[in-house]
Amino acid sequence: MNLKLFSLSLLLFEASCFTEFEITVPRGPVTGFYGEALILPCTFPVDSWDLSSTVITWQRKLDVVHSFYYSRDQLDRQNPHYGKRTSLFIQEMATGNASLKLDRVTLLDAGVYTCSISTNTGSQKKSFKVNIAAFYSEPRLQFSMLTDRLNLLVTSDGGYPSPKLQWLMENSDITNQTQTHFMQDTQTGLYIVSSWINLTEVTNSSLTFILHNKPLGQDIRREIQLYSDKTRREGQSAYRCHGCSILISVILLLIVMGLLFVFITRRRRTEQTKQNDGLKSQISASSFASMRHNVV
Ligand SMILES: *[C@@H]1O[C@H](CO)[C@@H](O)[C@H](O)[C@H]1NC(C)=O
Ligand SMILES: *[C@@H]1O[C@H](CO)[C@@H](O)[C@H](O)[C@H]1NC(C)=O
Ligand SMILES: *[C@@H]1O[C@H](CO)[C@@H](O)[C@H](O)[C@H]1NC(C)=O
Ligand SMILES: *[C@@H]1O[C@H](CO)[C@@H](O)[C@H](O)[C@H]1NC(C)=O
Repeated sequence: MNLKLFSLSLLLFEASCFTEFEITVPRGPVTGFYGEALILPCTFPVDSWDLSSTVITWQRKLDVVHSFYYSRDQLDRQNPHYGKRTSLFIQEMATGNASLKLDRVTLLDAGVYTCSISTNTGSQKKSFKVNIAAFYSEPRLQFSMLTDRLNLLVTSDGGYPSPKLQWLMENSDITNQTQTHFMQDTQTGLYIVSSWINLTEVTNSSLTFILHNKPLGQDIRREIQLYSDKTRREGQSAYRCHGCSILISVILLLIVMGLLFVFITRRRRTEQTKQNDGLKSQISASSFASMRHNVV
């Protein structure tokens, strides 16, 4: 009886001791920036802590990322992928800091990382996800004037993951009138994005290009003000006016001819007693000729 109680209390003691040793890692995924250093956080309790009995192991699946025991880094079994890129904050270890610094991260560093800690007071391991992301560069705009349309191309590169693109024309979505290509750099795996739109008619309007890189909360929003091709519009109206002027001259000519006819016949009827009549008809005739010249 006594022995049973004792072992039960021992079990309880062990259980409470075990739950007391709780390491802490991020709850959600951690995002690292391509090319920069990333700290993978992990902390452990340090009551009556002893350095020499501490074992810290960082792993990604079965790969050893970094390990520490006998009071120093032990890198014999480190995966070469992490070679010369990892370090612990040894000065901070007494405060329970087992975080790992990983330098120059690339897309190949993404994955699930496990922090395992064993000390004289307990042991535990916990995992969390690491994503790598990169900011997209300032977009470059390229206009191509083609005979029947304007081709507008926007490119941005060096980003990750693939972004969401949107095009707006005066606040209405015209994304499905555009084309977008995503290419991945064979070396870095980063994306090169090109998106273009063909405008067959340019009106005074605002065109907005939006690139959204969700994990980094990066929003590139660039507004392009379009102005209608004024010379072309003037050309069009000039063409219309040219047609109009021909029509107007023809009508005027007909009116003048009609008036002239009436004028001459009336003058003939009332007879040629006044001499300036001839002069008048001469003027009319000359204006008639100049009018005719204009039309031809
Ligand atoms: C561990 O120490 C490093 C260096 O001082 C610090 O940047 C990091 O935030 C610390 N980690 C935690 C979880 O306290
Ligand atoms: C383009 O988008 C508009 C509005 O969002 C939609 O009504 C239309 O069906 C889409 N066209 C195509 C070809 O997807
Ligand atoms: C725009 O014009 C180019 C050149 O003719 C063509 O290759 C492309 O598919 C067009 N893009 C769209 C979105 O219509
Ligand atoms: C477009 O805007 C410009 C400058 O504000 C103006 O000169 C032009 O007449 C406008 N064109 C049209 C078609 O409204």
